[in-house]
Amino acid sequence: MKIFTTRHQIAQYFTHKTGKTIGFVPTMGALHNGHISLIKRAQQACNEVVCSIFVNPTQFNDPKDLEKYPRPIAADIAMLEQAGCDILFNPPVSEIYDNNEKWHLNIGNLEHLLEGEFRPGHYQGVMQVVNKLFNIVKPDLAFFGQKDYQQFMVISKMVELLNMPVKLVMCPIQRETDGLAMSSRNVHLTAYDRQHALILSKALSGVKDSFGIADIPQLQLQAKQLINSEPGIGLEYFEIVDGDTLTPVSSNTKSIVALVAARAGKTRLIDNMLIV
Ligand code: PAF
Repeated sequence: MKIFTTRHQIAQYFTHKTGKTIGFVPTMGALHNGHISLIKRAQQACNEVVCSIFVNPTQFNDPKDLEKYPRPIAADIAMLEQAGCDILFNPPVSEIYDNNEKWHLNIGNLEHLLEGEFRPGHYQGVMQVVNKLFNIVKPDLAFFGQKDYQQFMVISKMVELLNMPVKLVMCPIQRETDGLAMSSRNVHLTAYDRQHALILSKALSGVKDSFGIADIPQLQLQAKQLINSEPGIGLEYFEIVDGDTLTPVSSNTKSIVALVAARAGKTRLIDNMLIV
C-alpha cells in the first residue's frame, strides 16, 4: 500500500492513471470491520481504492471529544494492508486547512435535524472536509456507512448542489454478533456501558419487528421507554421518520428509517435501522 501525506503526492500518482475507476473511503481512522467492509465494497467496483485517515477538527463541536478521539495509526495501516487497500491518504491538519478558513453551504433544515440539533455545526465541518477530500482524490465512487445515515444524506445534498462528479454508495451497517453497531467510539465503552448499549439495537429491531402492528407514535414511545429504563444510558433522540427527508412520515413516504442517539456512560453512540 502506498502512503501519501500531501495533496501533491496524490495528484502526481494519478496523473498517468487515466481510464481507471477510483474508489474512495474517507475515514477518521480507528478502523474496524465496518470500515473494512467499505474497502471491500470499493474493491469490487473500482480499479484503485484510496482510503483517507484524517481526524477532521472542524466537525467536532466538543474540543474534548476531538482530543480523545482514538488515533491508532499503526494498527490502522496494518488493517488496510491486510485488506489490500491501494493507497492511504493520511495528511496532517496543515495540509488540509489554512488558518481561519471559512466554509458554509446552505443545505436547508437537513443539517439542523436529529444529529444537527445535538451537534451544531457538525455537518458543515463534515461537508467542508469531504468537499476538500473529493477535490484532492477526485474519486469516481465514494463509499460511506449507513451507520451515519444523516451524514450520507448531507453529503449527497452537497454533491448535488455543487455538481460534483462522484457517485456515492451507502453500505450496510456492520454489527457485532450481539447487535452492537461497529463504531470507532466503541473502544471507549466500559464492559458495563457496552452491555447496556445493546438496548439501542434491541429497540431498533423491536420497531422493525412490530411495524404494522402498532402505529409510529406508539412504536416511538415504546422504544424511548425501553431505552430510558436501561441503566447507564442517556437517550438523546429516537425518531421514526421518512428515509428520504428525515421528516415525519407522510402519504408520499417511500422508505422509513428509525434513528437513535444516546450516551452509554461517557460515550455518545448512534445507530439506525431501515424499517420499510
Ligand atoms: O464518517 C466519518 O468518519 C467522517 O465524518 C468523514 C466522512 C470521514 C469526514 O471526516
